Amino acid sequence: MEKGLFKKIVLSLAGLLVGLIIAVYLSAQLNPAGGSEATLGGANVSVDGVPDDVVQAALKTYVPPGQLDEYYMFASGGHSGSVFVYGVPSMRRIRTIPVFTPESAVGYGWTTESKEMLGEWSWGDVHHPALSETGGDYDGRWLFVNDNANSRAARINLDSFKTSQILDIPNIYGPHSAVFMTPNSEYFMLGSRFAGPIPYGTYSPIENLSKDYNCVLAAVAIDPNDGEMSVGWEVLMPPWSFDLSDAGKLDSEGWAFLTTYNTEEAYELLEVNASQREMDYVVALNWKLLEQAANEGKYKIIDGVKMIDPLEVPGSVYLVPAMKSPHGVDVTPDGKYFIANGKVAPVATVFSFEKFKECIDNKDFQGEERGFPIVNYEKVRVAEVPVGLGPLHTQFDGNGYAYTTLFIDSTIAKWSLDTFEIVDVTPVHYCPGHLCAAEGDTVDPDGKYLVSLNKLAKDKFLSVGPSHPESAQLIDLTTDKMKILMDVPTDPEPHFAQMIKADKITTWEVFDKDPSRPGAVYEKENARIERDGNHVTVYQMGFRSRYYPDHVEVNEGDHVTWYLTNTDFDEDITHGFGICLYDLNAEAQPGETIKFEFVADKAGVYPFYCTNFCSALHQEMQGWFIVKPKDL
Ligand code: CUA
Repeated sequence: MEKGLFKKIVLSLAGLLVGLIIAVYLSAQLNPAGGSEATLGGANVSVDGVPDDVVQAALKTYVPPGQLDEYYMFASGGHSGSVFVYGVPSMRRIRTIPVFTPESAVGYGWTTESKEMLGEWSWGDVHHPALSETGGDYDGRWLFVNDNANSRAARINLDSFKTSQILDIPNIYGPHSAVFMTPNSEYFMLGSRFAGPIPYGTYSPIENLSKDYNCVLAAVAIDPNDGEMSVGWEVLMPPWSFDLSDAGKLDSEGWAFLTTYNTEEAYELLEVNASQREMDYVVALNWKLLEQAANEGKYKIIDGVKMIDPLEVPGSVYLVPAMKSPHGVDVTPDGKYFIANGKVAPVATVFSFEKFKECIDNKDFQGEERGFPIVNYEKVRVAEVPVGLGPLHTQFDGNGYAYTTLFIDSTIAKWSLDTFEIVDVTPVHYCPGHLCAAEGDTVDPDGKYLVSLNKLAKDKFLSVGPSHPESAQLIDLTTDKMKILMDVPTDPEPHFAQMIKADKITTWEVFDKDPSRPGAVYEKENARIERDGNHVTVYQMGFRSRYYPDHVEVNEGDHVTWYLTNTDFDEDITHGFGICLYDLNAEAQPGETIKFEFVADKAGVYPFYCTNFCSALHQEMQGWFIVKPKDL
């Protein structure tokens, strides 16, 4: 028998056994008298050996000790500037990864490296995480996120779950419509949500919006070897507020699709004035053509970046009319369709990529705006699916179905990509924004699980005052009807998430021992304190349960560079390092060397200690930082 199959059978049998044990346990708990009905959480539970929905849901989300979740879900942490990592199906939050905001729990924002990455900013607004892809499939190497506030993008390395690069993106105000990967992680696109004069810092009065303000689309290039991001090129666009985007795949590979709202070019009372037109656009971008134009030098440099005028690259940008201020645009797994979600129109509009290409080939345009051809709506649109009120985003399973969130209805509609008919609707609580299906943005989604990322929780959880947590709901996709399995509260603000099969990610157990790493010391004889004028460099080791050296004396006013190497090469043995009353905390993971720098501007004696529990003698892992006064 094939080894994998054997393992599956064993696991299934084990699962059944656990299920049976729990069912028997629940029967006993719920109905000690031995009757046939009882309630659990307000629902009727059958105790005749046939578990009902509640028991099924409990079993489907129960991950017994010794077993692990099947998927990682990486969710936006919104304006916390972080990324939240969940295990699915248990929905346990496993980790918070700080990205654009300092996080003292891991010393992010105190070490030299993280301080430099964060630069001048103290917060960020993460919206849409995107996993790197190879051949249109998540490859488990990197996660990229955008910062809608301070125009940045970041890379998290999935071998360490650490933010490893933050890139400033010039010329884009509010890069909301990001991050969405091309199928081989060549690029991700970002588009301005807010029109503005470029480069940053340029003045022009608001009345000049149509004339002087622009939106810009940026293509961030990704190094295939190490994931290093750089701004490849940018495209100058009208001031139209780009909302969301998706990259073409398979049939539509080489294209990117972005929704716009405010093609009205309004600059006051947008809630009314940006909804005047019946149609806005999905902007279709031939990124391969634009890449070629960039390589051929067809650009100007603005704020250090190659800025392409798409009107000088015929065939690079087309407009597809889409109903009234569309929100999400989503490409189907086969790349044959792109779907615009109506937001204020109660439909998801399905466009055929093939028909779109035909319109281009036959010059079947219904006009142009600002020099860009508008393809014939009637030809390109293959369906307007009446999904319900407030359609925002669509995800896919592997069986030819699409799932659309309805913000106003507080439902998710399941519909067929073949007949375009709605086959199921489930209520969710409340006001879903994005949703996330297992491997849902790949060419080969898993189905199985869907998570509804709801904006409001209202009465779902214990009250914590006037503002309630957001919520996420796990939905079972393995049955004909969608079934809600569980609710979990989330911190603000779970915009988007992606879910990847856990076995695709391989993490480090410890950091490599690398004597060439600047500041690293692994032997006591190399640990030392060096002075060069008023610069002091500390080469310190940390191991269970001490620092070496464990007292460090400098003079008031000295510039201190401090390296700490964790020489415990044991998984999970992390040492913290906090200096009392010096506003400094960091951590060194197993084998890691960290660096922090500061000026010893306060004289006196300042204890330092391990902030991260590491051993029975963790409390003894301490020392003293002694600053000799200038005038002594
Ligand atoms: Cu080292 Cu606690």
